[in-house]
Amino acid sequence: MPAKKDPTRRTFVKTAGAVTAAAAASSFQGPLIQKVKAAGDQVLYGIIGTGGRGTYLLKHMAGLDNGRCVSVCDVFEPNLKNGVQTAGTNPTAYKDYRELLARKDIDAVVIAVPLYVHFPVTRDALLAGKHVFCEKSLVFKPEEVHALRTLVNERPKQILQVGLQRRYSKFYQTAKQMVDKGMLGNVTHVMAQWHRNPGWQMKPDPVRQRERNWRLFREYSGGLTAELASHQIDVADWMFGAHPEFVVGVGGLEFIKDGRDVYDNIQ
Ligand SMILES: NC(=O)c1ccc[n+]([C@@H]2O[C@H](COP(=O)([O-])OP(=O)(O)OC[C@H]3O[C@@H](n4cnc5c(N)ncnc54)[C@H](O)[C@@H]3O)[C@@H](O)[C@H]2O)c1
Repeated sequence: MPAKKDPTRRTFVKTAGAVTAAAAASSFQGPLIQKVKAAGDQVLYGIIGTGGRGTYLLKHMAGLDNGRCVSVCDVFEPNLKNGVQTAGTNPTAYKDYRELLARKDIDAVVIAVPLYVHFPVTRDALLAGKHVFCEKSLVFKPEEVHALRTLVNERPKQILQVGLQRRYSKFYQTAKQMVDKGMLGNVTHVMAQWHRNPGWQMKPDPVRQRERNWRLFREYSGGLTAELASHQIDVADWMFGAHPEFVVGVGGLEFIKDGRDVYDNIQ
């Protein structure tokens, strides 16, 4: 942690301004695309899971000229079609992600499947020699993270990146620089909040009700902690350069009684 300093308001505002300007001057690019060196000019990538987040990412990546989506995979036909359309690059469509991973021309994969499937898909992608960007949270069960660490350590030439969105925010990057420069003094506490109204809604689906609403069931989901608090917990890890030593939490299901079994509020 930075040494304790006592900045005056004038020096604080001046330095904060410089830090913000520096942050604003750097243009946005996904780190995966920045770091990966493709054989040709473009990184050829595939995407696995083209639901809400996958298509959101595809829209953003479509604007990058050093990457090209050549393949899309989803088990759910309407989302697969939507993914193909959103990519706009005439990608090959697969329902089985292993077929996508078997393609030798694909350098990298973006994984945006539900949390409970992150581990098998990420593991298989690394084993297939791909660079991987996997949406947060990286894993569902503790043992899965240990297995991935081992795999990544064995493959130093491959990149595994986790999609924790605050790391790409100019605001948070600026706050991080302010912490690093000691402008906030000796930072010992982070209080983070996330409020949302009306909260996650149960999507009607007579055939795949639970799978489509995977976020709302503990069988598939870590609930609010994994889906939202993970971003803020990561901010604290990032600012302090350390991981939590222990965790205490409380929560309840008080307001949204629609059949879900994850809490609708947590602390
Ligand atoms: N970084 C962020 O801010 C952010 C925001 C939203 C979601 N996410 C993360 O993105 C992931 C996806 O969330 P979402 O909201 O898009 O969920 P979603 O349910 O809308 O989409 C998931 C998609 O994966 C598909 N899928 C499920 N199993 C599959 C398999 N075995 N192979 C291929 N496709 C499969 C589903 O059919 C669906 O289309 C989650 O891990 C979530 O936490 C991150």
